[in-house]
Amino acid sequence: MSADFPSDFMWGASTSPHQVEGNNVASDWWAREGAVPGMQLSGDANDSYHRYREDMTLLADAGLKAYRFGIEWARIEPKQGAFSHAELAHYRRMIDTAIDLGIEPVITLHHFSSPLWLSEQGGWATSEVAEHFGRYVEKAASILDGVRHVITVNEPNMLAMMVSLETAARNGELGDWQSPTVESSGDEEWTQPPLPVPTPADAQPMIDAHHAARAILRDRTDAAIGWSIANQAFTAAPGGEEKLREVRWNFEDLYLEETKDDDFVGVQSYTSQQVDADGLVPHPDLPDNTMIGTAYRPDALSLAVRHVAEVTGKPILVTENGIATADDEQRIGYTREALLGLAATIEDGVDVRGYLHWSLLDNYEWGHWEPTFGLVAVDRVTFERRPKPSLAWLGEVARSNGASL
Ligand code: NOJ
Repeated sequence: MSADFPSDFMWGASTSPHQVEGNNVASDWWAREGAVPGMQLSGDANDSYHRYREDMTLLADAGLKAYRFGIEWARIEPKQGAFSHAELAHYRRMIDTAIDLGIEPVITLHHFSSPLWLSEQGGWATSEVAEHFGRYVEKAASILDGVRHVITVNEPNMLAMMVSLETAARNGELGDWQSPTVESSGDEEWTQPPLPVPTPADAQPMIDAHHAARAILRDRTDAAIGWSIANQAFTAAPGGEEKLREVRWNFEDLYLEETKDDDFVGVQSYTSQQVDADGLVPHPDLPDNTMIGTAYRPDALSLAVRHVAEVTGKPILVTENGIATADDEQRIGYTREALLGLAATIEDGVDVRGYLHWSLLDNYEWGHWEPTFGLVAVDRVTFERRPKPSLAWLGEVARSNGASL
């Protein structure tokens, strides 16, 4: 079977700063890892802060053409109001390296981690965040020459969920769960509390920050601007139709509605979730069979893309899609199926501009090293990169523009 993709389709892979760079010491995530019992540490991560050229070369040599990576706010502004020219120059070198290697850089300005000082002031739960974010984005905008796509905030809906967890933790509603600014009280095992669906009030600071960033970027760059939403490809279980609308609004559509003046929408899809009259339910006939405990649903990508196109009418860039698995054959099978579904979606007239696989590297999965999403394995001691067959496979899909699928 093969598939047709537009001739300028952007084929690539994604990472985020905290998950691959290492030693993101001024960030709230670094503090959280140190404070929460049971969380593994990011430490040197993949040392991509120093090895980014090697990473990008692997990607380019395989045949991929785009690399999504982020600028880390906590490095640019480690102390409030003290901006680092050296770190701005570092990220400019990364962009230049990508361009020199013939890779399209897709830049994320915020990917879950924030400067610790911001979190200590209430961070993304406060209305001031838009102003703080805007000041950082002004600096970041100064190094974005030649960048054609900028994502302001990664998964604002997941960020809102984390913020509501933080708030509950600060209010002592989550027992042992520790917020990054609350000191650990012992060595007890850490368990993830049940994830709350964020409310519209939780979303407002992200929306304001996105709008502020967009205005600044429009003024100072030529880049297309959007943000990337975590898409769950929700479906209704019997009796769940009304609840589905509510959950989908709070978790996803609210954020999609705010994209009216954006140039594109980033879709991030891994699995699909069902909603019954009481809320989210496990899919009855599908085991949780990935390393992060989600159902194997390669069809989720086309469901998500179709839904986003219907709600927004905007061009779509798939900024993340992939699977946590130790079995690389399964990764290839999942991705192949997801891409065939995407091709059918494009054939039906949906405007999809590119596909960026999560992730280029096995990296730090927010507290855990075990879920491996990468096209490339990384030795945790030597940092040696070991490309998996899926890298060459996806590279060939890119070279053939889908014909080899
Ligand atoms: C979405 C997030 O943006 C990314 O940071 C994370 O690693 C992947 N999902 C996989 O869980």
